Amino acid sequence: MAQFKNIKGTKDLLPHETRQWRNIENIIHDFMELHSYGEIRTPSFEQTNLFTRGIGEDTDIVSKEMYSWIDQGGSNLTLKPELTAPAVRAYIQHHLANQSPLVRLYYLDSLFRRERPQKGRLRQFHQFGIEAFGSPYPEQDVEVISMAYHFYKIFDLKNITVRINSIGSSEIRPIFLNILRESMQPYIDNLCPTCQGRLNKNALRIFDCKNPDCEKILNKYAPSILENLSDDDRVHFDTVQSLLTDIGIPYVLDKTMVRGLDYYTRTTFEILSTTLGAQNSLCGGGRYDKLVENMGGKPTPSVGFAAGFERLIIALGENNIGTDTADIYMVVLGTNALSCALKIADELRKKRGLRISVETLKRSLKSQMREANRSGAQFAIIIGEDELENNAVIVKQMNDGKQKEVPIDKLVDEFHRHHNCGCS
Ligand code: HAM
Repeated sequence: MAQFKNIKGTKDLLPHETRQWRNIENIIHDFMELHSYGEIRTPSFEQTNLFTRGIGEDTDIVSKEMYSWIDQGGSNLTLKPELTAPAVRAYIQHHLANQSPLVRLYYLDSLFRRERPQKGRLRQFHQFGIEAFGSPYPEQDVEVISMAYHFYKIFDLKNITVRINSIGSSEIRPIFLNILRESMQPYIDNLCPTCQGRLNKNALRIFDCKNPDCEKILNKYAPSILENLSDDDRVHFDTVQSLLTDIGIPYVLDKTMVRGLDYYTRTTFEILSTTLGAQNSLCGGGRYDKLVENMGGKPTPSVGFAAGFERLIIALGENNIGTDTADIYMVVLGTNALSCALKIADELRKKRGLRISVETLKRSLKSQMREANRSGAQFAIIIGEDELENNAVIVKQMNDGKQKEVPIDKLVDEFHRHHNCGCS
């Protein structure tokens, strides 16, 4: 019989990966709490029109990539392809604005987009991110950009660049789009079919085109959004830039960065990594001052970002954190020794919080020591019949091979003194 396999674009995470994932998840939760952001968890599926209205009908996500279906009760539902629209829905539905004029939320969740799978691009993937509701000020944009930047600094990621742009407020957008369409009209036949289509429906996205001919035309003839901002937009964006400089966040101005979701206004940004290949965006976000209002809430200027979890893992590469599986590997020789080992392991887990793996396969000393090495443990505790007669075990330091005999009733104290073994 043909074997079942996971669906294309999805991924099983096996123990050596989940361990690393959990470590990073813990770092994310700690980081967000340090910044006073509170976690929000929303359901895996929502009404389809939450996304159609929120993200925009002509975006790639809505027009091509959503997993949508009509359920047995006739409801039109969609597996969530992003988290800003659900966060906005929850913000409005639970009247979070009543709790505080500035609501800061974060999330860590699983998402679904039917894209063409490739390195760093999946059909089920994970994001963590933040949304700050209520502040119109550039200082809030800078908090959000700075959090994204400093998050990656925790991992000492090299080769990352912050790119920022302003696509202006919603008032200025229709004016700019007209200017853009008019200036592209003489060249429309030379643009690719996708750009020709976009020019009518979603003109800003023509700046995303990777076709070299389109790029050439755009570089030469397309007006720049930055040169068409309103005075207020300009002051806002200038302040964002000078604050970023003041707090030491290096950035590059990218006049053509428009992002693929329709809700953005004013500041947009991405953090790119050169180690990722074609899918080089680690995270992206920006301001969306009209979305809450468009979804039925009160006018609420907001800004946030979301970051791809899988892309962070790729960027970490060899710097994988936390792939060791135990602090102590217990090498057990003989049946009597095994029951004693199980008791010792339980005591050390309870009293010292150490991760302990006990050998139960009754293998030779050599195979067990090989296993201890493979586990990444810092210590092996060797328990044999001879040692048991003396009520003692051998504690071996794996990095330099140093070993000594320790009485069993002194073991808990022994590990108290090893500050680098994970115990306090
Ligand atoms: P986005 O640019 O669509 O923005 O996604 C943000 C990040 O999610 C990307 O930079 C990338 O790291 C990751 N990502 C996106 N699609 C995939 C995929 N198919 N496979 C793996 N990773 C992927 C948003 O989702 C906005 N909601 C961000 C935001 C929050 N804006 C304001 N607040």
